[in-house]
Amino acid sequence: MKVTVSRKAHFNAAHRLFRADWSAAKNEEVFGKCNNPEFHGHNYELIVSVRGEVDPVTGYVVDLKILKDLIKSEIEEPFDHKNLNTQVPEFKTLNPTAENIAVVIFNRLRPVIDQNLDLKITLFETPRNFVEYEG
Ligand code: NI
Repeated sequence: MKVTVSRKAHFNAAHRLFRADWSAAKNEEVFGKCNNPEFHGHNYELIVSVRGEVDPVTGYVVDLKILKDLIKSEIEEPFDHKNLNTQVPEFKTLNPTAENIAVVIFNRLRPVIDQNLDLKITLFETPRNFVEYEG
């Protein structure tokens, strides 16, 4: 019997979408307002979902207290109130789009969550725009 357990989290962060190898005009054309050289922020809403067998002893798929603490240490502390481009190493050479942020979050959490459990990341960049990644 497999059940999906999810934990919601939140972080505010600034970013800028651009390619250094493109002209200013090309960056403006492709990324529009998200190319603002002075950066801009989003209120990111994160849902971390873990799917697996229910432990017959505890009745848990995963201890949500442990999941909460992992999200805090691996994602919220390094991302919250940060400039993603300049303060999160993965984005030194990777555009911090919602897509890439979801992949980076997955890659940070995957090694610290039981390999018998499936992991899925849902990331809202705005209340209406969100991406999903499950490896
Ligand atoms: Ni943006």
